[in-house]
Amino acid sequence: MNEITPIEKMLHGVLDHVDRPVAEAHGLPNTCYTDADYLKLERERVFAPNWACIGFGKDLPKKGDYKPVELLGQPLLILRDQDDQIKVFHNVCSHRGMILVEEAGNTKGVLRCPYHSWCYSLNGELAMTPHVGGPGNNRHEDVDPKKHGLREVRSAVWMDVIFINLDGKAESFEQRIAPMQERWKDFLGVEVIHTGEDSSFSFDVNCNWKLAVENYCESYHLPWIHPGLNSYSRLEDHYHIIEDNDYSGQGSEVFQPLKDENGKRFPRIEGIDEKWDTSSEYTALYPNVLLGIHNDHFFAIQLEPKSIDRTVEHVELYYLKKEASGEDYADLRKKNAENWHEVFAEDIFVVEGMQKGRNSEGFDGGVFSPAMDTPTHAFHIWVARQLAKAA
Ligand code: FES
Ligand SMILES: [Fe+2]
Repeated sequence: MNEITPIEKMLHGVLDHVDRPVAEAHGLPNTCYTDADYLKLERERVFAPNWACIGFGKDLPKKGDYKPVELLGQPLLILRDQDDQIKVFHNVCSHRGMILVEEAGNTKGVLRCPYHSWCYSLNGELAMTPHVGGPGNNRHEDVDPKKHGLREVRSAVWMDVIFINLDGKAESFEQRIAPMQERWKDFLGVEVIHTGEDSSFSFDVNCNWKLAVENYCESYHLPWIHPGLNSYSRLEDHYHIIEDNDYSGQGSEVFQPLKDENGKRFPRIEGIDEKWDTSSEYTALYPNVLLGIHNDHFFAIQLEPKSIDRTVEHVELYYLKKEASGEDYADLRKKNAENWHEVFAEDIFVVEGMQKGRNSEGFDGGVFSPAMDTPTHAFHIWVARQLAKAA
């Protein structure tokens, strides 16, 4: 008789305890945070069938720019083609499987495999196969270039965030993003402007990527982890955001725009609901991107899972009006980035602490506050439902 693996055991029973009314629910079990084999299952059931974030359009500003990335060990290539469209391909040569691109760059023409120099156009077509038919003969009747182009991965760009659907079977991206877009419809069509290094930073954190989502979803920890933020945007000024099976997070009703000593602030977008004069919202769009919106800036955080207990958080800040990208706003942008850096850095010891706690035999998922932890519980339910889907 085959022995049942710890992961199968978990899937067979324990998940029933997660997808329940919050007052009765347990959190996801420790296996989901500590077991390297479980991560393979998560790649199959949580990342591949959904729309996952792999980067940002601002990293490929020019036509012909390309950048290799990985999603849970899967080598991928993002590029901007000659029509200014972002595309994503599997980063592997169709010939003998050489990694096609190892470093970001720009090409005016083709991507050349360094091994036997097969070349691909930016739309993935196999354009050249030198000596494939013998020395001096660049064609062979049995190697049809049309059959051996790069394999494209479904991709979409929204608010500069690049999403992919690895297995190609998810709902359309338009359907996927519709609930989030409906919530933030006031910002639809607004150009998000990235100003370069002053608005980018990252953290390499020793925790499972889900713990970063869970912590981001809730405002409960505010008084103790973010005393600075809490001094003007208090726990009681926050509300929960839950869109079943899609995203969850929290909002603040007392958003205060950043100002310099002369009272200068970033230009805000006008003509939108007055709610945004005083509100800001922070949502985790499942699985792995964290978003923040204000009437004068936006940010997105890509959670890049490196292993079961390590995640890189890529933080990108954007402005909503062109004027904010000018030199006269450089100091304010720097201050804004410093402020967010400070807030996100404050969260590191708790997500790393929760990771350590997941090795404890005295804990296996814990309990949720029915009043304060509903956005986190919503995320656990979503993960549990992905895992429960048959492969
Ligand atoms: S492996 Fe790429 S050309 Fe041979
Ligand atoms: Fe936090």
